Amino acid sequence: MKLVSPNFADLLSPNIEIKRFPDGDSYVRIPNLEAYRDKDVTIFHRLYPQPDVSILQTLFMLNSLHAVNASTTLVAPYLPYARQDKIFLEGEVKSADIICSLLASAGLKKLITFNCHFMKKEGEIENQGLKIKNISFAEQLIEHAKKKFDNKKFDIIAPDKGALYLVEKFGGKAMEKVRGGYVKGDVAHRAISKMVADFELKEKNVLIVDDMISGGGTMIEACKVLREMGAKKIFCAATHGFFLNDALLKLNEVCDGVFVSNSIPSPVSEVDILQELKNQKVIDHG
Ligand code: R5P
Repeated sequence: MKLVSPNFADLLSPNIEIKRFPDGDSYVRIPNLEAYRDKDVTIFHRLYPQPDVSILQTLFMLNSLHAVNASTTLVAPYLPYARQDKIFLEGEVKSADIICSLLASAGLKKLITFNCHFMKKEGEIENQGLKIKNISFAEQLIEHAKKKFDNKKFDIIAPDKGALYLVEKFGGKAMEKVRGGYVKGDVAHRAISKMVADFELKEKNVLIVDDMISGGGTMIEACKVLREMGAKKIFCAATHGFFLNDALLKLNEVCDGVFVSNSIPSPVSEVDILQELKNQKVIDHG
């Protein structure tokens, strides 16, 4: 059985009620809850924007479904906190593990997500008692890029080694990205200190593929380096596009175009995750 959040309304018909109490608390209701008793239930709920609130709403849904003994799968195309999978400074938290553990202890049996940052490969793993299926969206992005390049040849590049798994099986190579310490201020951000590529790209068209574009710094820096190396046309593609602040504007100034999936809806969400969810038999065809 399917339960669809209002934040998935662009792809499926919602049947969960989510509202706000006047003080801002989340109100979550699963109408006809008894119908889900002892059933396998797949929940479609985005965890971005408003990651903290959306995670809490998910825990509420899981609690209700656990009470009627439903077996639950969550389809959350983007998993927030997945980037915080290592301790950089003493006393930090591994938020990626905490989120998995929270979901598992609320009764979630399986999470289905796209290009989960800490997994670094497609397929299934278990983390903190939570089964996770990581679907890579690279093939669909690369397929879409063929139209962008008018079916002309292009090289495929990942902007850092962490994204190599996205491009490797399509003959792609990875640049090296080194981050420094945290910048001053109250935004937890480590600036890029170096970005290099040890391959030839002179006169070549290039598609850069990453799991996400957040503030855009990675893609912008990659474009600059590749331009200096003599790359011709450059398109930037990612599974998840946040485009914080004026990232899209700035990125468009240094490349020939940007596109992402609709895991997070944006003005350049040109590639649809719904078809892939059908291919993966997460939802029925038709
Ligand atoms: C980091 O390793 C990720 O794969 C992305 O490269 C990164 O998070 C993108 O962030 P930004 O767009 O802010 O550079």
